Amino acid sequence: MANINDNYLKLQAGYLFPEIGRRVNAYLEANPDVANSVIKMGIGDVTEPLPEACRIAMSKAIDAQSKRDSFHGYGPEQGYLWLRDKIVAFDYTPRNANVAADEIFISDGSKCDTGNILDIFGKDNVIAVTDPVYPVYVDTNVMAGHTGPTDDNSEYTGLHYLRATEENNFTPDIPADTKLDIIYLCYPNNPTGTVASKEYLTAWVNYAIEHNSIIMFDAAYRDFITDPTIPHSIYEIEGARKCAIEFRSFSKNAGFTGTRCAFSIVPKELQGRAADGSSVSIHKLWHRRQSTKYNGVSYIVQRGAEAVYSEAGQEQTSELIRFYLENAAIIRSSLAELDITVYGGVHAPYVWLKTPDNLSSWDFFDKLLNEANIVGTPGSGFGRSGEGFFRLSAFNTRANVEEAMHRLAVKLTV
Ligand code: MLT
Repeated sequence: MANINDNYLKLQAGYLFPEIGRRVNAYLEANPDVANSVIKMGIGDVTEPLPEACRIAMSKAIDAQSKRDSFHGYGPEQGYLWLRDKIVAFDYTPRNANVAADEIFISDGSKCDTGNILDIFGKDNVIAVTDPVYPVYVDTNVMAGHTGPTDDNSEYTGLHYLRATEENNFTPDIPADTKLDIIYLCYPNNPTGTVASKEYLTAWVNYAIEHNSIIMFDAAYRDFITDPTIPHSIYEIEGARKCAIEFRSFSKNAGFTGTRCAFSIVPKELQGRAADGSSVSIHKLWHRRQSTKYNGVSYIVQRGAEAVYSEAGQEQTSELIRFYLENAAIIRSSLAELDITVYGGVHAPYVWLKTPDNLSSWDFFDKLLNEANIVGTPGSGFGRSGEGFFRLSAFNTRANVEEAMHRLAVKLTV
């Protein structure tokens, strides 16, 4: 019999979103008559069609693939330069963030990138995650053998948890006397929907430079930021090129969750340490990893992503973001009318609410599902500090959002 990776046996239950799906399916099996009225505001999956500019570009790319003289086989390992150049010109240069096209690696998703990047890091790093946190950062470290088993609080031994609470505005304190090697930060934040100021990110970058740490900065939701003074990229912070990797995605701004295109940025300055004490370029290792294990995103999809940066694409993606942010505003104001405390949802598609009557996150999940046929995500699924909170995703149709808020008003006020 072949041996397995025993680290997988340390993982708790299922991955959060399939686990929610399992519970919803069990509920629907018992209550088949309400199958059509369940409104899903759990996983952050987009509902609106792909921008027209992207569809036209992909359709043209399919035509090109049908003729020998315009056919494309394997693409360049890091993705097509015409896409990487546009990313630099539109997303980084205007915000004075110094990123070069050859530091961008096009991929099929930030979830994959944040997990895959662990291939190039050793086993003895002190790894910090916020709590609550996007569960992928934790689970991929468990799979890679970077943690021990869970403790009595269902937290993995060996991981350093940075508590994100109401008291600290969901921006955890930077530990003064702990040396962290790898720090995961996600802003605008999933799940709390909150943002980080320039001062806060500067403090992390200074910490990382002082301690030779690497920040894994997940900026998947950056296009939802509506205040230009809030950093959109970690590279807007001086010194970040020496200490940060950034992850970006077209999933949420351009509706690519089912189309798949994302990218990571690994600056050339970034160094790690080999067992013999020498410094090694992280960029070179990631390039080696990606060119060995990955064949890149299809030509057709990269053309679709490039069209995000066309004039029409910019207008259409802005419109999508505006639409989802309006949903978030409707959710926020409806909950506030019910005297429910809400966070997030202003520069992010997630609204983070305090459960009423001190209900536990899962009890509130059950209440919403049973009484209002609404599915959300229990805050405790994102970590211990998420207990007593609940996440509602604004990625939905307007009709569903309005109907869900109407049902909540009826159910939570009787
Ligand atoms: C979420 O709901 O947290 C996101 O959809 C997860 C993801 O993008 O993978």
